[in-house]
Amino acid sequence: MAVTGILQLGLGNFGRRHLAAWQRLGLADRLWVAEPDTAKWSEAAPVLAPGRCVRSAAEALAHVSIVDIVTPTEHHLGPCREALEAGKDVFIEKPMMPSAAQAREIAELVERTRRRLQVGYYYRFHPAAQWLKAELAAGRFGGVRYVTGEFLGFKRARTDVGVMHTDGIHFLDLFNWLLGGPPEDVYAVCRDHFRRGLEDFAIALLTYAGGTVGKVEAGYIQPGQWEDKVVAGAMTTKRVTLVGERATAEIDFEAETLIVTDARHEFNGTTWAPVLGHPTPVALEPCDPVEMVCRELTAFIQAVEHRTPTAAGPVDSGLHLAVLMERFYESHARRQPQRLELTEVVPST
Ligand SMILES: NC(=O)c1ccc[n+]([C@@H]2O[C@H](COP(=O)([O-])OP(=O)(O)OC[C@H]3O[C@@H](n4cnc5c(N)ncnc54)[C@H](O)[C@@H]3O)[C@@H](O)[C@H]2O)c1
Repeated sequence: MAVTGILQLGLGNFGRRHLAAWQRLGLADRLWVAEPDTAKWSEAAPVLAPGRCVRSAAEALAHVSIVDIVTPTEHHLGPCREALEAGKDVFIEKPMMPSAAQAREIAELVERTRRRLQVGYYYRFHPAAQWLKAELAAGRFGGVRYVTGEFLGFKRARTDVGVMHTDGIHFLDLFNWLLGGPPEDVYAVCRDHFRRGLEDFAIALLTYAGGTVGKVEAGYIQPGQWEDKVVAGAMTTKRVTLVGERATAEIDFEAETLIVTDARHEFNGTTWAPVLGHPTPVALEPCDPVEMVCRELTAFIQAVEHRTPTAAGPVDSGLHLAVLMERFYESHARRQPQRLELTEVVPST
């Protein structure tokens, strides 16, 4: 394996999942962890070689070829820039960068340094999403008319970005991936009930080339159905429904279920009536959050070793989404839909 050393930055709530994933992948022997809060080291120290918990990236960068950034979003740019300029390949948690200007800088830096960078959009790797992507490509659903997702539930409000920017963005990315590109227009409705300057309730309405309509709802104030597997004490719903010309798919990522129904409308001489098959569950391998992280890290390492494009790259999963989020907030401020100009999302290099 070409990966000589791995440096994970951040050992907070989600950093623990990354640590568990590196262990599950059998790569803890080449792992370093940088975490300024030394009280958190006790979780990593037992699984790392002595001396491999450090306060800052600078203390370990020379020993590694990969940097895994699991810090809050406002601490993404500096470490990512330093890692790329030092010739490291980078895995970075979502959202890649908080602004389109920063995302463009990183997309261009990846291009210039010829490094690999993958963003942590792990729903792409869930077996239900993989099944849906394959069946869409095989034509089982026909054209996609509507795709909608709910990523919501009573949960502590993150302080780095608003709820669409941290939670809804998972499904914004998933929809781009399933539909083959970003939306043409976005219309946003947000509320900031907690008066923090960040939305705690948000809906995005999206229109894609070919006429597909998308909707993502995110929020901390709506009740969720299941105990959250990542945030202790939270209740959550993470559901996606995709409606095609010939079939619909309903995914519940928390319950790990996928139900497919052959469904279309036919004109019977009087009216358009539904022609429905039986809702059919699709058997799925279990895939908890650590397993999803394992799968995305495995794909990243393969891209690093073979020098191939990553599965969620700096343009499609970084810059495109950063531009989409800026148009989302503009739409909310102006109370009007905003257009994503495709020319603005291509890096200049
Ligand atoms: N994929 C997912 O489902 C998912 C879930 C939760 C969080 N996340 C993402 O993971 C990232 C981290 O979130 P979290 O919930 O773990 O945050 P957190 O606040 O719980 O932990 C972040 C940790 O990073 C440390 N840190 C800050 N700056 C650092 C630096 N320069 N170098 C090293 N460590 C540093 C902090 O001390 C803290 O321990 C965010 O980008 C978030 O969006 C992704």
